[in-house]
Amino acid sequence: AVFSVKQILAGVAKVGDSVTVRGWVRNRRDSKAGLSFVTVSDGSCFDAIQVIAENKLTNYNSEIVNLTKDCAVIATGKLVESQGGGQSVEIIADSIEVTGFVENPDTYPVSPKRHTVEYLREHAHLRIRTNLISSVMRIRNTASVAIHDYLQANGFYWVHTPLITASDCEGAGELFKVTTLDFDKLPRDDKGKVDYKQDFFGKESFLTVSGQLNVETYCMGLSKVYTFGPTFRAENSNTTRHLAEFWMVEPEMAFADLNDNMAVAQGMLKHVFKAVLDKNGDDMAFFAQFIDKSVATRLEKMVNDDFEVVTYTDAIARLEKSGRKFENPLYWGVDLASEHERFLCEELVGKPTIVTNYPKEIKAFYMRQNEDGKTVAAMDILAPGVGEIVGGAAREERYDVLVGKMQALGMDPASLDWYLDLRRFGTAPHAGFGLGLERAVSYITGVQNVRDIIPFPRTPKNVAF
Ligand code: 4AD
Ligand code: MG
Repeated sequence: AVFSVKQILAGVAKVGDSVTVRGWVRNRRDSKAGLSFVTVSDGSCFDAIQVIAENKLTNYNSEIVNLTKDCAVIATGKLVESQGGGQSVEIIADSIEVTGFVENPDTYPVSPKRHTVEYLREHAHLRIRTNLISSVMRIRNTASVAIHDYLQANGFYWVHTPLITASDCEGAGELFKVTTLDFDKLPRDDKGKVDYKQDFFGKESFLTVSGQLNVETYCMGLSKVYTFGPTFRAENSNTTRHLAEFWMVEPEMAFADLNDNMAVAQGMLKHVFKAVLDKNGDDMAFFAQFIDKSVATRLEKMVNDDFEVVTYTDAIARLEKSGRKFENPLYWGVDLASEHERFLCEELVGKPTIVTNYPKEIKAFYMRQNEDGKTVAAMDILAPGVGEIVGGAAREERYDVLVGKMQALGMDPASLDWYLDLRRFGTAPHAGFGLGLERAVSYITGVQNVRDIIPFPRTPKNVAF
C-alpha cells in the first residue's frame, strides 16, 4: 500500500509490510557492495526515508545510480528495521520507478548545497524543495488551522468578507485600485479619455486593506465573528515585515471591551504556539539548529507565561528611561517605530508585549475614545524579533463621537453611512483585532523576513510567478 513518509515514521506501516512511498530524492550515496542508498522526501514531514536499492534491480545501472536531488520516484519494497543510525526503519526496494529525472543537475537551481534566502526567493517555484521553506510552510499550515480551531471552539463564526471594496478601513491611503481590463467598457470623460479614477464598472474601488468594517456588521448580528484571508497594502516599504499581499485574521466580538480583546488575542496566539510545538517538533528543531537556538524554548515558555501588558504612556517612559539612542524621534505622541517596538519587547521586557491606549492622533478613526480625551482603547502586540504582530481596539460605538472623529479627520461621514447605521440601529460596545499571519509565523520560526513565510511574496519589486 502507499504510505506517506510521515505515516511510515509514525508507525502506521509495520516492519515486514510491503510499502510504497512516492516523493523526491533528497540525496543518494552508493556503497562499494553494489548498493545505493536513496533518501526520499515527500514533504509530509521534515524527515526523509531511506530506500536501499540493490544492484539486482533491473534499472540499477541505467537509472538508479544516476538519481540526483529532486528526481521524482515511486519506490516499493519491504519495511525493515534500520541497520544504521538515523531513522528507525528503512525500505529494501523491490522496485524504484523514476517518473522524472532532473535535467542538468549541475545547474539545477535548488541543488543540494546551501543557498541564501535571497537566492531562493528568485526561485520561488522551486524553493518548497528546501528544508527551510518546507518547514516554514508546514508551520504556516498548522498556525492557520490552529487559528480556526481556537476561534471555532470559542463560538466565533467565520465570515467571508469581500476583497473588492470601496472603503479605506485604515485611512492610510495605501490602496490598490481595481480596474477592468475590458478597455471598451471603461468609463470615459467628455473628451473620450479613459477615466481611471472610476473604473470598477463606473465606480471607484480597491483591494481591501482590512475586512474589519465588513466583519463589524456581521458582529452586530452573530456576536462573535472573524474574517481570515488575503489583505492588500500598497505601501512602498521594502522591509523584512511588509508585504503588499499578506494574510490577516480579524476576530470581532460584541459586548466586549479592550480586556476581552486582549484575552482572546493572547489565548489564540498561545493555542497556535502549542499546536506548532505539538505538530511541528522536527521543523522547530531545524529552526533551533539553523536559525536561532532559542526559538523552540521561547515558544514553550510562552504557552504558559502571560504576555506583558503596558500602556503606551508607560512604554514611552520606559524607552526614554532606558537611555538608549534611537534613530527615530521619541516623545509622547509619536507612533512607535520598529526600533522602539523591538527594543521594548526584546530588551526591556523579553517576551511578547501588549501596548495599550495609544494617543488618538496616531490611530484609525474607528477606535474608541478613552475618558482622558487623549487616548483610544487600542492595543498592539509586539513580538521579539518582529515588532507589531497584532493591531486591535475597542470600537467607537457612540454615533456622535464617531461622526465627530470622522469630521475631525476630514473624512466624509456620508461615504460610510452603512457603517454608521450600526451605531444608529442597536449599537453595542464591541472590540476586535487583526493578526498578521506572516509576522506571527516569523516570530514562531525565527525566520526574519516575511517574504520567506508566504509562498509567493508580493512586494514593490516583485510580482514574478
Ligand atoms: O494594525 P493593522 O493595520 O490593523 C488593521 O488592519 C485592523 N483593521 C485590524 C482589526 O482591528 N481588525 O494590521 C493588523 C496586522 C498588523 O499588526 C500586522 O501583523 C499585519 O496586520 N500587517 C502586515 N503584515 C504584512 N505586511 C504588511 N504590509 C502588513 N500590514 C499589516
Ligand atoms: Mg497596526
